[in-house]
Amino acid sequence: MVMERLNGLCLQASVRLIDWLYEGRDYQRFWVLEEVARAPYFAFLSVLHLKESMGLRGDKHLYLMREHFEQSVNETEHLEYMESRGGGAYWVDRAFAKHLVLIYYWINVVYYWISPCFAYHLSYEIEIHAAVTYAKYLAINGEDEKILEILNDELRHVYELGEAMKSINGKVRG
Ligand SMILES: [Fe+2]
Ligand SMILES: [Fe+2]
Repeated sequence: MVMERLNGLCLQASVRLIDWLYEGRDYQRFWVLEEVARAPYFAFLSVLHLKESMGLRGDKHLYLMREHFEQSVNETEHLEYMESRGGGAYWVDRAFAKHLVLIYYWINVVYYWISPCFAYHLSYEIEIHAAVTYAKYLAINGEDEKILEILNDELRHVYELGEAMKSINGKVRG
């Protein structure tokens, strides 16, 4: 419970900062968010590979590895799409995102090693925020098939993370 509240507080603070910094610059904001969104999935994969190498392969190991690989590829597709809309065009945004992703990757490596369920919970909350962000964009800017497709991908990630938490805990947290 304490860790879940901490996840919520960290997320709220980060989201407020990014929303403030990127007010009126939607595609740059989406690009930064998608750059960062890939980090947890390859952090989870890194830890799963390391555990496997150490002989600590769990029941759901292969299922989780496949899922996190697919999610990291999917987030990279989102990133490429935001690049095609000019989201990564400026040096300052790229520098900000690449520093953020480096920090966020290592936080997730440590977090996932210590407590996979709470690491999943943090990403679960972030994916909900991503879906809400795209839904707000659609509400303001009208129909956009590609953004709707990305929104649905984020909702699928929410579901998959919920299932991953269930597989560890026997129930969905969050
Ligand atoms: Fe995404
Ligand atoms: Fe996602």
